[in-house]
Amino acid sequence: MSRRFHLAWFTSFTPPSWRSPWGGGTGDEWLTGDYHVSMVQQMERAGFDFVMFEDSTMVAEAMGGSAEMDLKHSLHSPKLDPFPLLPMLARETRHIGLIATGSTSFYPPFILARAMATMDHLTGGRVGWNVVTSSEDIAAQNYGMDSLPPHDERYDRAQEFMDVCKALWDSWDPDAIVMDRQTGHYADHTKVRPINHVGKYHSVRGPLNMPSGPQGHPVICQAGGSDKGRDFAARNANAIVVTQPLLPKMKEYRDDIRSRAERFGRDPNDVKVLFHLSPVIGDSEQHARDLHQNLFGMEDDLAIERVLAMTAAVTEIDFSAFDLDAPFPQDLVTNGHQSVLSDLMERNRGKTLRQSLSERAQLGPQVVGTIGSVADQMEAIMEHTGGDGFLFLAAPHTRRYIDEICSGLIPELRRRGRTRDGYRHKFFKDNLLDF
Ligand SMILES: Cc1cc2nc3c(=O)[nH]c(=O)nc-3n(C[C@H](O)[C@H](O)[C@H](O)COP(=O)(O)O)c2cc1C
Repeated sequence: MSRRFHLAWFTSFTPPSWRSPWGGGTGDEWLTGDYHVSMVQQMERAGFDFVMFEDSTMVAEAMGGSAEMDLKHSLHSPKLDPFPLLPMLARETRHIGLIATGSTSFYPPFILARAMATMDHLTGGRVGWNVVTSSEDIAAQNYGMDSLPPHDERYDRAQEFMDVCKALWDSWDPDAIVMDRQTGHYADHTKVRPINHVGKYHSVRGPLNMPSGPQGHPVICQAGGSDKGRDFAARNANAIVVTQPLLPKMKEYRDDIRSRAERFGRDPNDVKVLFHLSPVIGDSEQHARDLHQNLFGMEDDLAIERVLAMTAAVTEIDFSAFDLDAPFPQDLVTNGHQSVLSDLMERNRGKTLRQSLSERAQLGPQVVGTIGSVADQMEAIMEHTGGDGFLFLAAPHTRRYIDEICSGLIPELRRRGRTRDGYRHKFFKDNLLDF
């Protein structure tokens, strides 16, 4: 049987594509969580491993020194906190994994560890944590800092944060709840221990004031791209998500992560590397190419503005200051998403800023065609990169697009034996590591 691959969906708790002719009613429906409930149900029917909610806590002003572009395009704001959403989604589904993002630069580790453990209970062992170090000073200013610590130091802090969380989740023995009717003990205090952590960045006494969730430790998801970030991901993550349009670089990334994981004493097969993808599907090849041109041709001023503002926010570089038709600037520096910026500069050397936008808007490799040819292209990407699966990003973010993937593309891949045909296990992590 051909190798199966994993399926994940990348989204945020923000408005979907409400301006689309297919966006009807979703412009405010998303605020109640109802839109995301129906979306996650569609994905569970298709056999997705998980839905991942990215997060940030800012109203960005990097573009032109004003919040206008961020709010106009609802990029980073409005954005609701995904943590309370996950248990709500779990109530309406049975198997799919649910990942929320939590920043090691902003949360205290005790609160994060407790919230994740609580959600693991509430979801019946289906929760995951996308560990990020954050990248914007304007967000740091919401937490009593003038600016973020330097990029590499954020990962040192994140590793200590991770170690503290793991110690907290392990601070209750699995059999600590005894419910002994004879002696009247609910929990046995000899099976619950403080962690007494005093480190460089965190001091936490412990124990956690609750038992860890059914999974013990939630699924850990990560997206480190820099040298430090790759080490952090390879050391800690069960799932790694990658935004990279070029096949050789996708392969290089996965090979590198696997060898780093081995160096950390892990089985590389326990680290699933998933690649960003927004396939454009048409009824014919020509129809798909027309749709692609419409979506990513960057002929629309609003689309251009949107991509520039998005890139500005995560790098905190004002992209409105550059001439769209001049060569892509090569001397940019950021304390934000470093690997995003260095990759952008390298890929776009010799192109203009305008020519770089289409690729930036798509994030992943360009996959365009009918259901059958998109399935062929996805199989070819997996063959070439050896990857473990895909992280879909809706383009545009409408129920119609989600249905094209979930009711059209995925059933075709399933017929080819490429995706799961059910969930064998109760817990998210076990399903993720099943193949
Ligand atoms: C698919 C994907 C999802 C990400 N989600 C978030 C997020 O929700 N919040 C955030 O602050 N950073 C997010 N990031 C940024 C990464 O955590 C990371 O900082 C980035 O990939 C750059 O890597 P580096 O930190 O090693 O330079 C994401 C990155 C990718 C590729």
